[in-house]
Amino acid sequence: MLLPPVIRASFFTQMALAQQVRLANPQPDYVAMQQAHPGGLMCPMDGIAVSFGRETTDFVLRHHELFSSAVDMPLGNVRPLIPLNIDPPKHSKYRKILDPLFSPKRMDEMEPDIAARANKFIDEFVADGECNFSEQFAEQFPSAVFLGLMGMPWDQLEMFLHLRDGILHPEKVDPAAEADFTVRFAVMNATGQEIYTYFNEQLDQREANPADDLLTHFITAEVDGDTMSREEVLDLCYLFLIAGLDTVSDSLTCLFAYLAQHPEQRQLIVDDPRVIPGAVEELLRWETPVPYGVPRVATQDVQLPNGTTLAEGTVVTVSYGGANIDPSEYPDGFDVRFDRDDNRHIAFGGGVHRCLGSHLARRELRIALAEWHRRIPQYGIKPGHEDLQFPLGLRHVKDLTLSWS
Ligand code: HEM
Repeated sequence: MLLPPVIRASFFTQMALAQQVRLANPQPDYVAMQQAHPGGLMCPMDGIAVSFGRETTDFVLRHHELFSSAVDMPLGNVRPLIPLNIDPPKHSKYRKILDPLFSPKRMDEMEPDIAARANKFIDEFVADGECNFSEQFAEQFPSAVFLGLMGMPWDQLEMFLHLRDGILHPEKVDPAAEADFTVRFAVMNATGQEIYTYFNEQLDQREANPADDLLTHFITAEVDGDTMSREEVLDLCYLFLIAGLDTVSDSLTCLFAYLAQHPEQRQLIVDDPRVIPGAVEELLRWETPVPYGVPRVATQDVQLPNGTTLAEGTVVTVSYGGANIDPSEYPDGFDVRFDRDDNRHIAFGGGVHRCLGSHLARRELRIALAEWHRRIPQYGIKPGHEDLQFPLGLRHVKDLTLSWS
């Protein structure tokens, strides 16, 4: 099967990285890569570069006019993902519509609903004294929150998870997709069509019966007198399924695995929940659940701050994980401190494509930590499950199994 050139380059990059950066504890390897390559820039082959250092990564992210994000990502979609694969100036039009819908104030208003949804999951297993945290909490809770945001009832959760899995975990839909790329892309493409059909129907309903929910706002929001077309709204909804669900699920598994293994730090949260916002920021820095950025393509020959020149067409991947442990920004980066001041981590990216959902994600993580520790203050990795599996992809723990008494 023929893949778009940027994606082929991205696969080569992943293969090169898999040999050099361990999945379970990547932080020392990030620093080793910074030291091994001038400017922290690894060039595994002509036309491919990976930035591990903070300075180069910041430069790439801030210069969208030099590094285009308009790359073809084969995720079952038939058009670019909005706004991720759109460059300015058009990108700014979308963010002007979207930013107010995900503002801190709007997300504050959602807090009671998010807490109720977190508790609904905890209710289901708290009396059991154990759970598969990845499956029973982390993988479902962010999708449930999204149902609320989009104005959909609880009974749509299964459908939401099915659509998400068809794109992000096709092997759950057809086990043959694990090893066979043709099957993998067939599942993703079929699911892609389901996503367009599903959201088209939902949008028809909102047009007929407007409500105070995200889908209605997508249809009605205006910038400079323009609303978005139906295709644009569909492309947005498509990206939300990809960008807004697994990122939070995976972060939850990383954060809870860390806390389960560090009882003294967990106790800080139990003793004083006011430390939670600082803990979330520091654990996002340390774990960096989205370890690498969407590949960018140099639109011309570019000289980097360290003097290296990248040829036009070079596919550049930034390592957010590397930037978040770079000693130039964090001289004590290996100390995980919940009271760290002025934590300028870039776990949510940087530049114009900085995460649209960061305020929502922060609330989901803070509320999950607050509600869990209120109800289950003492817990650990269930004996026999200590060997944690960090599969390829976004950083996450598969089948994280916790127990408590
Ligand atoms: C802890 C959870 C999350 C993390 C770590 C995360 C991380 C990121 C990162 C690193 C980027 C930049 C990608 C790049 O350009 O390289 C990004 C972009 C984005 N994220 Fe998130 N994200 C999270 C949650 C969410 C949620 C809940 C939403 C839902 C609204 C969301 C929506 C988006 C969108 C729409 C973009 C593209 C923004 C643009 O291109 O202007 N993310 N995210």
